[in-house]
Amino acid sequence: MNRRSAKSEGMPKGGSAPRLDHVGVAVADVAAALRLYRDLLGLELVGTDEVPEQGIRTHHLKLGEAELELLEPTDPEGPIGKFLAKRGPGIHHVAFRVADLDATAKRLAAAGCTPLGEPSRGAQGKRILFFHPATTGGVLLEICEVR
Ligand code: CO
Repeated sequence: MNRRSAKSEGMPKGGSAPRLDHVGVAVADVAAALRLYRDLLGLELVGTDEVPEQGIRTHHLKLGEAELELLEPTDPEGPIGKFLAKRGPGIHHVAFRVADLDATAKRLAAAGCTPLGEPSRGAQGKRILFFHPATTGGVLLEICEVR
């Protein structure tokens, strides 16, 4: 395999590298999901949050330096409620923690990735922004910034 420089074009010099923040999983049955991830796999449940604007309750399980984010719909008409109705439970999105959300969003948008709306408050008070999977190789991509 041809190894390329780790420094990518357009990346800010000296900026801290992004890391995996969490993987979001849409769940229809939270008790079953907690049984699997917490009770059988041994992940620690570190918090639960409500995001009424998105119609979800989130359950955060520590997974190394990252988290597993269980997404439970509180509104069947919200994005997770609709996702479950259409596709059933499963992996919903992958979230990268970046040092500068606005600069990263600008770089992605300039390269043709389509943001879904404007940056907003996600679970745990993070600033988040999603990008449409049709423009990111089929992955619903979230970038988040922790202040
Ligand atoms: Co997320």
